[in-house]
Amino acid sequence: MQLTKPGAVIEPHRYDLLVKFLLVAALSIALSPLNPSFAQNTAKRMQACTTCHGAGATATVGRTANEVYFPRIAGKPAQYLYNQLLNFRDGRRHYGLMVGLVEHQSDAALMEMAQYFSQLQLPYAEPQMPPMGTSQAVMQRGQQLALRGDAGKGIPACASCHGVALQGAPNYPSIPGLLGLPRDYLAGQIGAWQTGLRKAQAPDCMAQIARQLSPEDVNAIVTWMAASSVPQVLSQPVLTAPLPVACGGAK
Ligand code: HEC
Ligand code: HEC
Repeated sequence: MQLTKPGAVIEPHRYDLLVKFLLVAALSIALSPLNPSFAQNTAKRMQACTTCHGAGATATVGRTANEVYFPRIAGKPAQYLYNQLLNFRDGRRHYGLMVGLVEHQSDAALMEMAQYFSQLQLPYAEPQMPPMGTSQAVMQRGQQLALRGDAGKGIPACASCHGVALQGAPNYPSIPGLLGLPRDYLAGQIGAWQTGLRKAQAPDCMAQIARQLSPEDVNAIVTWMAASSVPQVLSQPVLTAPLPVACGGAK
């Protein structure tokens, strides 16, 4: 006897998503401070985070469109990760699954997660090929905005805050690197700042900068960034010039 009708077969990527939802439910219980096994070691408790954030890099090849959206968190500065967990908990970022995971967590528990992931050293995914038909001019525009900005349009260089190699700077631990992230994720974040869906602690410099970017400029930046390989340098240079726009959340 046939148990499922052919039409009722769950497609592989939907099944994948279902597994993730179940994991999130299980994880919420495991992370609950009321759970007696809360004291078990952090690495073990944090394993479930990697179902979405990748055990290693957020690989962009051979994965479903949904998975390609998940940002890598390993190795990002602890202060940045901590600020994001606060942002999800305190209503400045709205991705439902993340909010569900952190809404009942204390500052100390969020800091512990942030520190754990910031110390995790994992290989990066391969750069993401630009979509078919992307012109050289688009890639050049992306590089120009990222490294030099466009003074005429009031766009500061992304590198003036995100680090000369766009991989962060040790003297600004609340600002993350931007390489090694999926194109869709980068575009999603900039779009969310433009519409006000994502906010950072005030003054929200990224909201101001995102609003200076035309749809063409956003496309150029994210395509160029996602296609750039991540330099394998352990320590990044400090930023010597003051930030071009004031940013909140800095420590
Ligand atoms: C169901 C999948 C899923 C699980 C499980 C999950 N996350 Fe996330 N997480 C996401 C997605 C998707 C985003 C990006 C959301 C957005 O667009 O703002 C995100 C964003 C984040 C960010 C912000 C990243 C950045 O670069 O700004 C942090 C930090 C984070 N998650 C930490 C965690 C931690 C810690 C856990 C485990 C307690 C966890 N996540 C579990 C899907 C997940
Ligand atoms: C004035 C300093 C400054 C400049 C210039 C700047 N950024 Fe940012 N950026 C920040 C800060 C601060 C954050 C962290 C915000 C938060 O806490 O959510 C951030 C976060 C981001 C994120 C989120 C990363 C993630 O993992 O979710 C993206 C994407 C981003 N910036 C893109 C850009 C791009 C593209 C440019 C250039 C057009 C740029 N930024 C220029 C300060 C800056």
